[in-house]
Amino acid sequence: MRRYVDLSPSQRCIMTPGPVEVDPRVLRAMSFPILGQFDPEFTCIMNETMEMLRELFSTDNRWAYPIDGTSRSGIEAAMVSLIAPGDRVLIPIYGRFGHLLHEIAERCGAEVFVIEKTWGSVFEPNEVIAAIERFTPDVVAIVHGETSTGRIQPLAEIGQACREMDVLLIVDAVATIGGVPVETDEWMLDAVIGGTQKCLSIPSGMAPITYNDRAEAKLLSRKQVERGLRTGQEYAESTKLSFIRSNYFDLSMLQDYWSSTRLNHHTEMTSMLYALREGLRLTLEEGFEARFARHILHEKALLAGLTAMGLKLYGDPDCKLTVVTCVLIPEGVDGESVRSMLLNRFGIEIASSFGPLKGLIWRIGTMGFSCRENNILRLLGAFEAVLIRHGLSLPCGYGVQAALDVYEANEYKRNQFPMV
Ligand SMILES: Cc1ncc(COP(=O)(O)O)c(C=O)c1O
Repeated sequence: MRRYVDLSPSQRCIMTPGPVEVDPRVLRAMSFPILGQFDPEFTCIMNETMEMLRELFSTDNRWAYPIDGTSRSGIEAAMVSLIAPGDRVLIPIYGRFGHLLHEIAERCGAEVFVIEKTWGSVFEPNEVIAAIERFTPDVVAIVHGETSTGRIQPLAEIGQACREMDVLLIVDAVATIGGVPVETDEWMLDAVIGGTQKCLSIPSGMAPITYNDRAEAKLLSRKQVERGLRTGQEYAESTKLSFIRSNYFDLSMLQDYWSSTRLNHHTEMTSMLYALREGLRLTLEEGFEARFARHILHEKALLAGLTAMGLKLYGDPDCKLTVVTCVLIPEGVDGESVRSMLLNRFGIEIASSFGPLKGLIWRIGTMGFSCRENNILRLLGAFEAVLIRHGLSLPCGYGVQAALDVYEANEYKRNQFPMV
């Protein structure tokens, strides 16, 4: 019989746009004993997590809870629950994850309208508003932070326009939540999906979402209690044509599970919930302002280092996403070979790219627990060495020095951050 050795994954410095390094406190929380899903101790953890999620999303919404599955599961749950077959849905696309929203809307049986922006830029709010006026959708779904291009789409004006025109607005904030501001209520976003494995520094496997009364009204109009749990009256009501076409991702049933009704649905992911709770606790302890400032400082140091090395950045700088930096691969350099050497010789991971950008850019994430000074300095030093090894002639030594200059010029802010 084949014997398998003890698992001992390497300690990596993960500088991708997710997953990122996980805070040791979160890993510790994941090793705690399992509780039953209706144990009052566990339901208390569920309630506390909901409370912290409301703070994370800056919302007074009643509903803020995680979907079990990766971030895509949260997106799919929101879309399949809020888009009825035949609904008109507008998707403004400016990168790979906009295409994912298109794909899911199509699978929901929607009549989909798409507007596209060249990758590397984002929409002027007026362009989206004009499209809403033209296509009169029931739902708009849009990405807040595009990890494929490293851009951020301003949402406040789009949110207000959707509210005025009575359109539901679904937002993929998977990459932004916990790293840059996401103002659910102020920007009038109806449903927002976050990610755990990026700026929250929790492993992948849960998708926090929130939605408001407007969204809930739509869910409830499509609600159908599952067979085996229905009462007589509910059987009589179970003939709605527009019922939600997924069982696992039916928010109208999931919210019953997350309310005091505790109507059984799936078996909650105990250890992941411990992880989410600890990750949220860490975020709230750090404070949103300090956390956002930390992400900005380390981005600044990284950008200073990369430009001092003579590397060119990709995309419109006016809409750059703080937590993702895209670097143009210099001509003649094999981008994949650089990534392999960084990983295999230095233990540092950066990301490649998708679709039209494949082979053209590297993507560097500065997210959550990975976003700290020693990671930035280590990456810049290693990057320089690896690029020289790949035949590029660089102004040697300047990258790390430029980043150090940024840190020294911001000594006051730097000292505020608990993690170096
Ligand atoms: C902006 C954005 N949306 C959605 C997703 C999908 O997330 P997951 O892979 O966790 O399902 C990602 C993942 O990288 C992302 O960056």
